Amino acid sequence: MAASDSPIIQLRGVTKIYGEGQSAFRALKGIDVDIAAGDFVAVMGPSGSGKSTMMNILGCLDVPSGGAFLFKDVHVERMDRDQRALLRRKYFGFVFQGFNLLARTSALENVELPLLYRGDPKKERREAAMAALDKVGLKEWWDHTPAELSGGQQQRVAIARAIVTNPDVLLADEPTGNLDSERSIEIMKLLADLNRTSGITVLMVTHEPDMAAFARTIIHFKDGLVERIDNHAHEPA
Ligand SMILES: Nc1ncnc2c1ncn2[C@@H]1O[C@H](COP(=O)(O)OP(=O)(O)OP(=O)(O)O)[C@@H](O)[C@H]1O
Ligand SMILES: [Mg+2]
Repeated sequence: MAASDSPIIQLRGVTKIYGEGQSAFRALKGIDVDIAAGDFVAVMGPSGSGKSTMMNILGCLDVPSGGAFLFKDVHVERMDRDQRALLRRKYFGFVFQGFNLLARTSALENVELPLLYRGDPKKERREAAMAALDKVGLKEWWDHTPAELSGGQQQRVAIARAIVTNPDVLLADEPTGNLDSERSIEIMKLLADLNRTSGITVLMVTHEPDMAAFARTIIHFKDGLVERIDNHAHEPA
């Protein structure tokens, strides 16, 4: 839980420039974004508009070229690489379009990985990983490898792996990009359920309005800028 009422995430005038000189490309041209703790946010916009660039900065995988990124009121852009890595491991979970599971490795072992990196003892790893698999409805499938699971099930394993450390924020970049619409809706329902029951803040990139409709807040990107932010909670009934 956030210690204060200020947004868990604040971006102020954030810019990102790839490359240098003649070939420099301004992927983010100065964006201001506030994310309230516990919100469910969809990020939309055309290809190349800067959505993944922002997600990578939020997840401490990349750094802004300018501006400020505050997480729980702390300036992340002033941190060194090691401090950012600690922040990332403690507070963030990641889900990607391509599932990124280890092949020939059981669902349980895939979900255990972040806890293994953290050095948790085996018994605790097993218990936490089984609990996470239970949350995504795959407890019975713990011993199956990715090849023995459907796309939707693989993405649910990836979500279990992302939440097994109890992160405050779940970042999902096109989590349903490789799934058909029925499977996509299942994943959306799961994300909405996790958001509602555990209070985890969810940020998800999607190209599909049907998927974005599950979110409370929608951030629209255009040409490296935030074009508009829709907040369903503030719409008249
Ligand atoms: N590492 C990089 N080096 C150089 N340019 C990059 C790099 N990463 C992204 N870009 C450029 O920055 C711009 C924004 O990219 P970004 O990946 O944020 O777009 P996006 O909105 O996520 O698009 P998509 O919907 O296709 O995933 C693009 O023009 C892209 O080519
Ligand atoms: Mg992208």
